[in-house]
Amino acid sequence: MKKGILNLRFRTRLVLVMFLITASTSAILMIAYVQHNRRIKAYVAGQTSDLGEIIALTQARIGPKVDRREALSEYLSALKGAGLSSINVLSPSGEVVASTNPHQIGKKIKLRRRRTGSKEGPIQITAQLRDIDTDTQAGQQHYDIRFPIIQGEKVIGYVQVGGEMDEVGAMLNHVYFLWLVWILVTMVAGMIAIVYLTFRFTKPIDQLVEGANQVAQGNLYVKLPEGGGDEMGLLARTFNQMAERLRDARELQKRLNEAEKTSLLGHFASTVAHEVRNSLNFLNLSVDQIRAKRWLMDESPHRELRASLANMKEEIIRLNRLVNDFLAVGRQTPPNIAPCDLRAIIEQAIALVEKQAKAQDIRIVSELPDDLPSLQADAAQLKTCFLNILTNSVQAMPNGGTIYIEAKHVADGDARSLMQLRFRDTGPGIPEQDREKIFAPYFSTKTTGFGLGLAITRKIIEDHGGRVYVSPDNHSGAEMVVELPLTDPALTHSPALSASRVA
Ligand SMILES: Nc1ncnc2c1ncn2[C@@H]1O[C@H](COP(=O)(O)OP(=O)(O)OP(=O)(O)O)[C@@H](O)[C@H]1O
Ligand SMILES: [Mg+2]
Repeated sequence: MKKGILNLRFRTRLVLVMFLITASTSAILMIAYVQHNRRIKAYVAGQTSDLGEIIALTQARIGPKVDRREALSEYLSALKGAGLSSINVLSPSGEVVASTNPHQIGKKIKLRRRRTGSKEGPIQITAQLRDIDTDTQAGQQHYDIRFPIIQGEKVIGYVQVGGEMDEVGAMLNHVYFLWLVWILVTMVAGMIAIVYLTFRFTKPIDQLVEGANQVAQGNLYVKLPEGGGDEMGLLARTFNQMAERLRDARELQKRLNEAEKTSLLGHFASTVAHEVRNSLNFLNLSVDQIRAKRWLMDESPHRELRASLANMKEEIIRLNRLVNDFLAVGRQTPPNIAPCDLRAIIEQAIALVEKQAKAQDIRIVSELPDDLPSLQADAAQLKTCFLNILTNSVQAMPNGGTIYIEAKHVADGDARSLMQLRFRDTGPGIPEQDREKIFAPYFSTKTTGFGLGLAITRKIIEDHGGRVYVSPDNHSGAEMVVELPLTDPALTHSPALSASRVA
């Protein structure tokens, strides 16, 4: 039911609310009017019945032979029994012969002459409105009604019944007061309801204006609340969709710009890198040619020149490696997958660092199981990875140490069969906060490092469907873990490669 009302159209809801407020105000006022009317009627009916009872008593009580005083006292008690108060019984001369107030007895009350139909006829009881005496002095209003008591054909006394007009006035005042309170209460409640509903209904408009302002200022991440199935809800949903489209368009534009920039920059950088590599090759060759000259090598005065040439050669090799690494990071070439012998690849990588390791007094302990499976991988790329890892370990231990290499079968969360390789050294280790950063391109803590070795390694391993990470175990040195899937990685991880292989 609530949902039904919420889903009504905005205009229909407004009309319904106005109608409900008007109807409830009228209904409350109507109920108050009917109730007060009822009270006045009940009051008038009560008074009328009291008067009726008095009339009935004056008619019925007196027998012809009864003593007058006795008869009048009898009246008094009968009237008391009828529930009336403030009653005096007067003799025809106006003397109070019996009263509910003992101080009144014996006092004389001036009687007005009654108008009767004939002087001789029997006295009749009349209780007309004109018999009501009102005294408006001092703001007090009261009335007296006198009923003659007739025995035989003689008036033997009067019953005087008093009442306060103020009672009726007070009652009417009370009714007016209540009426006023009802009007005020319904007016205030109606106004509160109108203000509340106006705020509630116009809140989405405020939010929409605020949202539109935000969009105009370039904030496309605004989201309006989408509640309700009315026009406001629809407007909020449409606004959100519009903001989302604008956001997507801006993102796309940004990515296009970045891609354009990156591709331009990448293209420029790889052109420069190729040019630099050609020059380096030429310099390398030239240095080799100069060093091949017999006179230079034989004669001792040229020792300084020979040392400079050796430094030049070293720098050329270093720059050449940088250029190759740089080109490898940017290159999108997929691995050339073929069955390869993991043991042979690891041994080739060890052979490449062995000389330097020995020079630094580093032991390389390779504990590879005999049943190492043959792997579907790009042997040359894997060798680069292992070489990078081993080179880092060698560089981390200038004063000697040990490098342990282990390999074992493991299964990952998806029950894939993996080959896990662990390269552990006894160097200073990698601080915990750097364990992810070291794989980012150009992150290096070395003065001569480019920070590309592990970035290349991670790219290659991931191209093979595997992963490389620093072991979370707290060893004294560093431990790099390489995991390679034993299934064909090309099928799951390199769509470009799959295409090239099919072709
Ligand atoms: N075995 C290790 N022990 C201590 N720190 C290491 C080890 N391996 C890598 N690191 C840290 O990781 C950083 C990044 O290594 P990465 O091989 O990517 O770059 P690099 O060795 O500094 O330079 P290069 O491009 O010449 O390889 C290193 O600078 C070093 O701080
Ligand atoms: Mg390195």
